[in-house]
Amino acid sequence: MRTALVLGAGGFIGSHLVRELKRQGFWVRGVDLKLPDFSETAADDFIVADLRDPYNCRAAIDRRFDEVYQLAADMGGAGYIFTGENDANIMHNSATINLNILDACVRRNVKRVFYSSSACMYPAYNQEDPDQPVTREDSAYPAAPDSEYGWEKLFSERLYLTYNRNYDMQCRVARYHNIFGPEGTWDGGKEKAPAAICRKVAKAKEGDEIEMWGDGMQTRSFLYIDQCIKGTIMLTRSDFEGPVNIGSEEMVTINHLAEIVMTIAGKSLKIRHIPGPVGVRGRNSHNELIRKRLGWAPDEPLEIGLRRTYTWIAEQVERTRGRNAALRHHSAPVVALPDRVAS
Ligand code: NAD
Ligand code: GDD
Repeated sequence: MRTALVLGAGGFIGSHLVRELKRQGFWVRGVDLKLPDFSETAADDFIVADLRDPYNCRAAIDRRFDEVYQLAADMGGAGYIFTGENDANIMHNSATINLNILDACVRRNVKRVFYSSSACMYPAYNQEDPDQPVTREDSAYPAAPDSEYGWEKLFSERLYLTYNRNYDMQCRVARYHNIFGPEGTWDGGKEKAPAAICRKVAKAKEGDEIEMWGDGMQTRSFLYIDQCIKGTIMLTRSDFEGPVNIGSEEMVTINHLAEIVMTIAGKSLKIRHIPGPVGVRGRNSHNELIRKRLGWAPDEPLEIGLRRTYTWIAEQVERTRGRNAALRHHSAPVVALPDRVAS
């Protein structure tokens, strides 16, 4: 039986990825600081552990997995990564995880490792025009990400590629562009724009006002989770190491994003633009390279994924109103490793 390890399996993308790998017949181990927030993990076993501890990484990678997916990171949307308040933790936590994981993989002779980098590593100077942002993969240098989160991603994607050169590994690096969907963080401060706007619209009554950071003319593209999982697995099994964008080319302003959500919800709301962390002025995925190397690129219209996401977030809003939090049953064996970081 083929085996896969998903690091960050308690998070949004990781929990969906575990489900797909199980559907494909893999034996799957998940590792995270926590179990998934919104559904039972589909993993065969799940280790609750802190991957900043090299001992935990070695304990989790106790065999030669066929595929390792490294999604564990200290991350969030604009409200988390652009305020500056979390920079030290973001850089320290994520870089430490990546350093530890690669070392543990080499010890077990694991060869094929997927790493989730981010479009946040692209230079800020190429993302000032909201209509013409540049995110070709070869535009990464001279490097000038607009956040420390982006700098850590750039460092770590380089780190993974050194292991290909020096340890004969087959690491694969993707640069995700704003992934959204059901079971993603939708409140609490780490949520991204699609989830935040769905939540605000779901909570509002007809004619209410919702708040939006900035003037709403900043642009982004958003990729639905199913397309992200498809691209992630295709890249991992391909002979192309990347880095390559995994994102949508359907760029919208944040104002337009809100309009689509309001249409889905059947609500007409006013938008109040307020100061907030806005990040780059424009960003869109550039998909020429993925098309060329994988023969595929994401193609699903934004509205399709937004409908599914809005429906799910509206349900969460209702549950929270009724103080009837989502039921969580976890039947996969859960192993907690001793916490050596705290001591
Ligand atoms: P997420 O926050 O839902 O998942 C990350 C998981 O990592 C969390 O469950 C968290 O508990 C876990 N984690 C953090 N520190 C850990 C530690 N010390 N030990 C063990 N687990 C730890 O985020 P996501 O949206 O699922 O993103 C997955 C990966 O993709 C991340 O590396 C992220 O930076 C990258 N990425 C995501 C997006 C996006 O739009 N979602 C965009 C670009 C890149
Ligand atoms: N989160 C959020 N919440 N963003 C809002 C809101 C709100 O209520 N209102 C307006 N926005 C604006 C932000 O100011 C930003 O300009 C834009 O919507 C997009 O914000 P996010 O979705 O939070 O983040 P991002 O696109 O800037 O960065 C995200 O994508 C990267 C990959 O493309 C983050 O998730 C990064 O972690 C990720 O790597």
